[in-house]
Amino acid sequence: MLKQNDLSQRFSEHLVQLQQHVRQILESHFLQGIWIHAGVSYRYFQDDLTAPFKINPHFNYFFPYAKAENSWLYLDGVNKPKIYFYAPQDYWHCAPTPPTEAFFSEAFDWVIFHDAQDIAKWIENPTACLFIGEDEELAKSLGFGAINSQKALNILHFARSIKTEFEIEQLYQAQFPALNGHHAAKQAFLEGRSEREIHLAYLQASGQLESELPYGNIVALNAHAAILHYTELELFAPSSRHSFLIDAGATHLNYASDITRTYAADPQSEFAALIKAVDGFKHEIIQQMHVGVNYLQYHTQMHQWMAKLLHDFDFVRLSPEQIFEEGISRAFFPHGLGHLLGLQVHDVGGFMQNARGTQKRPPEAYPSLRCLRDLQPGMVLTIEPGFYFIEMLLAPWKSSHLGYTFNWHKIADFSAYGGIRSEDNIVIRPEGAENLTEKALITLNA
Ligand code: GLY
Ligand code: MN
Ligand code: MN
Repeated sequence: MLKQNDLSQRFSEHLVQLQQHVRQILESHFLQGIWIHAGVSYRYFQDDLTAPFKINPHFNYFFPYAKAENSWLYLDGVNKPKIYFYAPQDYWHCAPTPPTEAFFSEAFDWVIFHDAQDIAKWIENPTACLFIGEDEELAKSLGFGAINSQKALNILHFARSIKTEFEIEQLYQAQFPALNGHHAAKQAFLEGRSEREIHLAYLQASGQLESELPYGNIVALNAHAAILHYTELELFAPSSRHSFLIDAGATHLNYASDITRTYAADPQSEFAALIKAVDGFKHEIIQQMHVGVNYLQYHTQMHQWMAKLLHDFDFVRLSPEQIFEEGISRAFFPHGLGHLLGLQVHDVGGFMQNARGTQKRPPEAYPSLRCLRDLQPGMVLTIEPGFYFIEMLLAPWKSSHLGYTFNWHKIADFSAYGGIRSEDNIVIRPEGAENLTEKALITLNA
């Protein structure tokens, strides 16, 4: 991990870049400043309880601290950003503590306030300012001249899709707790534990609370692996163990990791060979990635490999070319190859082509693809090929004119395994992709 001084240095370089985006927004809007509200936690209906607080990611982009409920940032693109840190006097709850000694503290001017209403008195000339945050009613009541303008959000979203070195470091650090969790989860699977027990082993080893995870852990035994976002966590272990798919991440300064592994109970089984093949595809495609190439090209390449796998493992008795052309691989690999990763696990900007917000739509054949960007240095992405036996997607093929080419007996046998996904996190560098997950794993095993 970087020393405090180096981290401070990286953070100031990060802020220099962000200030440029602020100036771009202000100049294009003829405005003076931007106020970003961190947000407040959601209160359940007819209750005095709230959901865990989830901070406005734009706030977090500038101020790398997630426990800042109801705080505000003021940015004019020239002066030090100003943090209005809300620290209520509250003996019922643990009020947010202002991080005044952190590596980023000196990069801000500080106002610490105790009464939420006070913010109004610091917002001078609100009609010349832009508000970014969830509570648009609050923004209106405070008299802001612009509220969540799409043009400004486009600039920020596009900027967020190319990570600074400071951000890449946090995304790298987020690999470690996740990999520790994955290691413990694998042991728990081998010991015959239930999904819930495996999940708890993951939390314990990763040192993360459930509320700190970037998404709900997917801990799927046997056929559950065919449910792409399975989050049930069954209490009891199944009577027989065939397979285990775990898709689980962690956060570091609220930057996410998103890692998936699949295991076969019997390492000599054909299912284990399938896992090896999918893993191999992941590594192969990562090696091929280059600046300037559109992500769709790699997604399409992956389908061609999946088509070959369907042929080679005798699931479909057509040539790999026919399997691909007929779209059969889409029934077995129904999600995208991956997505941008950052402060949000499915990070913003996957379809954007420029800071003006021009969007590309996914092709009809691949509606779930979340990234249509030309690769650029600084992009952080997941690569997550998957191969599943999903009844709902196979049924139409059964009754189709090509139904006779499928090896339905074998497919039925393999349904007990659910499916396979192998997911790593990469950063695009000028010379190609760097695998952050693998790099962290090598460090852990050294
Ligand atoms: N964990 C959700 C995903 O892989 O996209
Ligand atoms: Mn995932
Ligand atoms: Mn993912």
